[in-house]
Amino acid sequence: MDSRHPDLHPLYDEHLATLRQRADAALARGGFDHLVIPAGHPRYQFLDDRPYTFYVNPHFKHWVPSTKAPGSWIVYTPGRRPRLVFLQPHDYWHAVPEAPAGYWVEHFEIVVIREPAEARAHLPADPARCAILGEAEWAVADAVPNNPRAVLDHLHYHRAFKTAYELAMMRVASRIGVRAHRAAEAAFRAGESEFGIHMAYVAAARQTEADLPYSNIIALNEHAAILHYTEFDHAPPAHPRSFLIDAGGSFHGYASDITRTYAAQRDGEFQALIDAVDRAQLGFCDGVRAGRDYRDLHVHAHHVLAGILREHGVIRMSAEAAVETGVSAVFFPHGLGHGIGLQVHEVAGFAAGEDGGTIARPEGHPYLRLTRVLAPGMVVTIEPGLYFIDMLLAELRKRPEAADIDWDRVAAFRPYGGIRIEDDVACTTEAPENLTRDAFAEAI
Ligand code: GLY
Repeated sequence: MDSRHPDLHPLYDEHLATLRQRADAALARGGFDHLVIPAGHPRYQFLDDRPYTFYVNPHFKHWVPSTKAPGSWIVYTPGRRPRLVFLQPHDYWHAVPEAPAGYWVEHFEIVVIREPAEARAHLPADPARCAILGEAEWAVADAVPNNPRAVLDHLHYHRAFKTAYELAMMRVASRIGVRAHRAAEAAFRAGESEFGIHMAYVAAARQTEADLPYSNIIALNEHAAILHYTEFDHAPPAHPRSFLIDAGGSFHGYASDITRTYAAQRDGEFQALIDAVDRAQLGFCDGVRAGRDYRDLHVHAHHVLAGILREHGVIRMSAEAAVETGVSAVFFPHGLGHGIGLQVHEVAGFAAGEDGGTIARPEGHPYLRLTRVLAPGMVVTIEPGLYFIDMLLAELRKRPEAADIDWDRVAAFRPYGGIRIEDDVACTTEAPENLTRDAFAEAI
């Protein structure tokens, strides 16, 4: 099979069979007869008739790759063909969703409706027998989302394990993101502003901001120290020194999440620091192995990054002392990564099991988003970083450990903001699959 253009029919067949099995088990646990999933509706701005961007219910796009079908519903009853109640309104103000087509439609009984309220006639008669997953405001008549805990726990826990179809979608999402990353780097090298780089990105991705899986982070110089910097300066800085870009792509409802950091000067100290983080990041990616506790990988990353800080003269204490005293968290103040898939921060990062429960974060690591043990099928991000964040450095200055910091080195790196390098990595039964590096390695 051509991995760039796989035949989606058998992949989707197997994907749907997996979803059906999971739904059967979830419904049995919750004591329900039907799984009912509204796509959702657009929300309107206060005192206005303009809707916010519509983002489909992730449960809906797990079943069908229709991300722009508000007002539609899926009904699944174990043993029966799933039904898609598809809203195609008579509307000359807005684009009407195109009729369902493609590799997946043969598996559904498709009912077209013209008004949202018509959906009710095609949902199961007794809502008390239904697990309806969604927001209360998406109700039609008495079909009101009830989000049973037992059903959600089961589905969310298993969503971490991607089917071969989902991995195929995520490989394409990675290629789209990488294509745009290459254009963004070229724009940076050409002296563009943050806004100009962003425009180069969306043009190369051929996706609007609403299509992208999250808001682009396009940060030049000190802005790279703001973890979720989503502003865009329209003028380039007088002296571009560094460029951190955290941006992904979407494909059929699946996300990629990719971060790279570049130095303007390719033979300087900041480039050397980037190279060190890059080497470390590759090592962490190699740790995405079945049976590995993601919490351990995160704490291990702290030790390695603290070692880099020491090697580059930023701290004088040992890596162990830096981790123990929390100094490493001043420079690496976020988690190593998170699950990814239908949502850029995939659900159930803390799920203890299919029956619910939570795996706590390690003490002193409040921003870690994933605490599960890795297993084949999981896709996670690996995104170590080192930053020079004024707020955190000011706090560190007041602590006894301040004596073990080389503040001149901190001042030298501060104008570059920071470094983050992020790949999407699939855990397999063998070596990890790095979706991001594979996409960068391909000629596009
Ligand atoms: N890469 C963006 C985020 O994880 O929020």
